[in-house]
Amino acid sequence: MGDLIAALDVGTSKICAMIAEMVDEETLAVIGVGVVPSRGVRRGTVVNVQEVTAAIGEAVGQAERAADARIVNAYVSLSGAYVEAVPSRGVATIASRPIRTVTEDEIRRALENASAIALPPNRQVVQILPRSFKVDDQDGIREPLGMDGFRLEVDALVITAPTVAVQNLVKCVRANGIEVTELVLQGLASGLAVLTPEEQELGVAVLDVGGGTTDVALFLEGELWHVTATPVAGHHLTQDVAIGLRMPLSAAEDLKVRYGHVQPQWVSTDETVTIGGFGSGERRTISRHLLAQILEARAEEILDMAWKEVKASGYDGLLPAGVVMTGGSAQLAGFRDLARERLQVPVRVGMLPEIQGLSEEWRSPAFATVVGLLRWSMRHAPHISFPHAGGSQSSTGWRSRLSEWVRRLLPEG
Ligand SMILES: Nc1ncnc2c1ncn2[C@@H]1O[C@H](COP(=O)(O)OP(=O)(O)O)[C@@H](O)[C@H]1O
Ligand SMILES: [Mg+2]
Repeated sequence: MGDLIAALDVGTSKICAMIAEMVDEETLAVIGVGVVPSRGVRRGTVVNVQEVTAAIGEAVGQAERAADARIVNAYVSLSGAYVEAVPSRGVATIASRPIRTVTEDEIRRALENASAIALPPNRQVVQILPRSFKVDDQDGIREPLGMDGFRLEVDALVITAPTVAVQNLVKCVRANGIEVTELVLQGLASGLAVLTPEEQELGVAVLDVGGGTTDVALFLEGELWHVTATPVAGHHLTQDVAIGLRMPLSAAEDLKVRYGHVQPQWVSTDETVTIGGFGSGERRTISRHLLAQILEARAEEILDMAWKEVKASGYDGLLPAGVVMTGGSAQLAGFRDLARERLQVPVRVGMLPEIQGLSEEWRSPAFATVVGLLRWSMRHAPHISFPHAGGSQSSTGWRSRLSEWVRRLLPEG
């Protein structure tokens, strides 16, 4: 049996735990999933430690029972509303021992050097991810390990987050007896789950439209180029319906998911739906066209805000592979076509690829992040992360894999 890996996605709408077995270097088999509605999370950030701790415990419990294993370490998603990615350069002199060859030590020093950015006292560095390396005069290098030269330079992305947000999230996970192996940006994880290697190579933007946040990640030349997020997503669509049609949130959510559309021009003006959920068995008839008009306005805002972030990222070149939409709200009827018309780029919905052990019900784009966390654990790319609050401990975390991510309960056989 291969090593077990665990992932925990703490979203605004749902909290999801997943345990997978590494069949080989590239293949995963999911052996346990647990999902519970999220509590105590707003805009991707923990606002109630007790509630989140309990919800994580339930999701983890479900996954552990299904997998017959105990989670000891997990990759945990970090959502983007307050996360920032700052491009930064770092350098390291290549030591002569006796020849000057880049080792993991130089890579780590260059990345650490890039992390020396001015930070307000209430923020901390969570990850340092290389975009590309340069050895002496040769740039655009992806894997500098083993190259000869005098000077290693890295063009890196330094990911920072509010210290309190990181501390609270880590606290909720630890309270369940689980150590955070690494905090991974939600957009990065979602991208790894739904993008093809070609898309990552060409240039693509992932829009993970969840409940409380729309996380945006740009990939270029196979690496994460930028990440950002906007605090507008599915919950706002539901709220607009609740307010616009004067109904409780639960009924609005149901109406949105079952009959929602974001392109009113494709919904006939005489189409109506009758729904209940108003107490005392009352039912009401609602114009589906009106529903679509309400949703269209907010969907356009979500797209515009996300696109503004893409434009502001500094990568104003073309995105040949366009946009891949994922997250639960990407399932909203007409959203892909609306995005295509509004952004004028190719758009597709990123469904999850087939994964051993992952049944059809889990292949919704809502599970992109949790699957992407598992994918990230298998990606042996050099990077530095600071899983623990305070950022004093760093782990380079690649090539030297820990052997015990998850403890099996059953004897191996
Ligand atoms: N079939 C659907 N059509 C439209 N919206 C949906 C559908 N399924 C889920 N959603 C919306 O997706 C959002 C949750 O997405 P998800 O990615 O699970 O969120 P998060 O990662 O923030 O927890 C909710 O706002 C929900 O209303
Ligand atoms: Mg999410």
